[in-house]
Parts: sequence; structure tokens; C-alpha cells
Amino acid sequence: MIRVGIMGGSFDPVHSGHLCIAKEAAEQLGLDEVLFIPANRSYNKDPGENTQPEERLDMLRLAVEGDPFFRVCTAEIERGGTTYTVDTLREFKETWGKDRELVFILGADSFLTLEKWREPEELFRLCRFAVVSRPGFDDDGLEERIIKAEEKYDTVIYRFSSPGLDISSTDIRKRISDGRSFRYFMPEGVWKYITDNDLYGFRPEFYPEAAVYIEKLERELKPSRFRHTLGVAGEARKLARVYSEDPHKAYTAGLLHDCAKNFDREKTFELCRRYGVELDEVLKAQPDLIHSFLGAETARAEYGVKDGDILNAIKYHTTGHGGGMSRLEMIIYLSDMIEPNRAYFKGLDKIRKLAYYDLESAMEEALEQTISFNREKGRLIHPLSSGAYSYFKELNRRKPIEQRKDFTGSKSGS
Ligand SMILES: [Fe+2]
Ligand SMILES: [Fe+2]
Repeated sequence: MIRVGIMGGSFDPVHSGHLCIAKEAAEQLGLDEVLFIPANRSYNKDPGENTQPEERLDMLRLAVEGDPFFRVCTAEIERGGTTYTVDTLREFKETWGKDRELVFILGADSFLTLEKWREPEELFRLCRFAVVSRPGFDDDGLEERIIKAEEKYDTVIYRFSSPGLDISSTDIRKRISDGRSFRYFMPEGVWKYITDNDLYGFRPEFYPEAAVYIEKLERELKPSRFRHTLGVAGEARKLARVYSEDPHKAYTAGLLHDCAKNFDREKTFELCRRYGVELDEVLKAQPDLIHSFLGAETARAEYGVKDGDILNAIKYHTTGHGGGMSRLEMIIYLSDMIEPNRAYFKGLDKIRKLAYYDLESAMEEALEQTISFNREKGRLIHPLSSGAYSYFKELNRRKPIEQRKDFTGSKSGS
């Protein structure tokens, strides 16, 4: 007979403790597989308090990825409504008959409340329980209660012990909303999912390195520049999500894009020499443009950024380039123009709408506006900008007609 372990619960979020317990149960009780079944809505918890069922499901899938003994079962979420374990076990029995022994894994504290669950007698008939004890939990009363239940329901209750029981989802949620580290309480994929989707009150400034960057930037930038920086970082993160780019990287690039902006002239030129930033004629004539090239070197040298895509996004945030900009590069270029603190200029709304619709069309529009604005002001146009403009113009021209976006205002949100 196949022995199937069942891990029920909210998994809000799933953590390493759950995985340790499931693994220990499989080894100590000789289970053939363990099903993780996220409750749609636990009967004893406030609904919708933290996350959507689909999010908990996504996290579970990420958590069990790669373990051939673990599976995620969507039965309770698909059934909807308030979740009662007895309904799930009944469904399983109907599907599997006597082919499988169902072993329901639960903590000692949950076991002590079992009599309050719906139809406890039926529960004992449908499955075997396996009680895992928590270190430090008062085991004296537990063993007695187990024996009593075995007699009352004419069953055998398995016992096993496992590490990981002192991790709890409640504590993790609190850590997250307090801005404390929670990285090593769960598999990396789950951690990333939480930080990418801002679950449980996570805020991007909680990224450990972001906190360090923000502190340094606040010291070094003028207050209005610092506000703009946070605006760009937030905007970049939103755009990254829309275009399935890494929101963490986008936030970092946004934070650091103007990190060399408030250096005085002397320091700017000195650092350019030190970091080997070559100054062409346009940069010499318009030193304001230097901060993006120097910014990339400063981010590398002073902020420890190693990621080439982030560094390039900083480097090209004022000029763009015509060599096929990466999505992150486009996101930072555009976020710089459209972040919420940006003073209004004619055409801003159009670029804002386009940015969330089609990056390449937004780039063409943004470059066109920037170039004509600079021409009007009598400034030189950097060859990288003209190259970028031609590139995007040609690229968008070749797009099938239905992919071309040209917002004229009336088509907003279409
Ligand atoms: Fe800038
Ligand atoms: Fe900027």
C-alpha cells in the first residue's frame, strides 16, 4: 500500500520548518510521498488577512520544486470557501479507495485541538495521524492525550520528532513587516517571491543593501535629488514587474542612477580621471551629462555593484544608446523621466502611458522629446542619443501595425 503524507495548513508563508517536518515524516514513517495542501480559508483564521490563496500556492510550488517526494495539491483551493480537512480526506478516499494509507501530519499543539475540528470521528476513520513534537513543548500531557485518542477512536497514532518546529509563519510575517531579515527561513525562491511582490508589508528599502545605499545617498544628495531618486527607484520597480524584469535590480539601478549627480565640477573631473571615464567633446561641453557615465563607475567602486545590466542602466540613463538597449536600461531611462516627483513638461503624460504599454515606443517618444528640447535650448546632442532615437524609430516602424502604440491622449488605457 502506498503511504501518502499530508501536510495541511495556510502556508502563509511556507517556510523551512514545514519542509524539514515533511522530510522527517517521510523518512521516519516511511512515506512514499508528501502532499502539501494549502487551505483555501482556514476555519479558524481571518480570511484574506495576508495573502491570496493563489499566492500561497505559488510560494508552495517554489518551495517544493526539485524534491521528487513532495507535491502540491490544489484540492482545497479549488473547492473554495472555508476549508475543512474532513472534506479533503473524504475526497481522497473516494478517489483512491483502499489503495493508499493517508497519514495526516500535524504539530502537537494542533493535535490537542483535534476534537474541535469538524467531525473528528470521521477524521480518525479516514486517515492516520502523525504527531510531530515541538522542542520545548510540554510533552507530558501530550502522550497521555495520544493514548486516550488511540483508545477512543480505535486507531494508531504515529509520533515523530523534527527540527524546524520553532520557525513559524506568524513570526516570519512579523519579521517581514518589521523590516528584519527573513532570507534564511525559507527556500530562496519563496524569499524572492515575497520580496518581488511586497507580501506581508515588505518594502523595497528593506533589501539589506538598499538600506545601506539609501543612507549614503541621503547624505550625499540634495534633498530634492534624493526625493527624485526614491521616485525613480519606485517607478523602476513597478515597470520591472510589468515587464517581468527583476524588481530588485530595477530598484537598485533606480536608487543609484544619479549617485554621481551632486559632485562638484572638480570632483567630477577628478573621479573621471580616477575611474577612467573618457570625456568626449559633447561631455566636455555639457558636463551635466557626465554624471550618468561616472555614476556607473561610482556605483561599482563606492556601492559595490557588480551586475553589468544595472551598471549599464545607470551609465546610459541620460543618453540611451542605439545598440539594442536592455529592458532594464529602458526602464531606468524612462523611470527617470516619468517618476511621480518629476516636474510637469509637455508630453510627460504620453510617455507615462506608453511606458506601461510598450517600452520601445515609449523610448522613441522620450528620445524625440528630449532631443528636440535640447535642440531648442541650443545644446549639443550626444551621438548616443541620436543613435538611440534612430534605432527605436526604425524598430517601431518595423513592428506589425497592431503592436505599434501611438497614444494621442484619447486612447489612454486602451
Ligand atoms: Fe540623471
Ligand atoms: Fe535622475
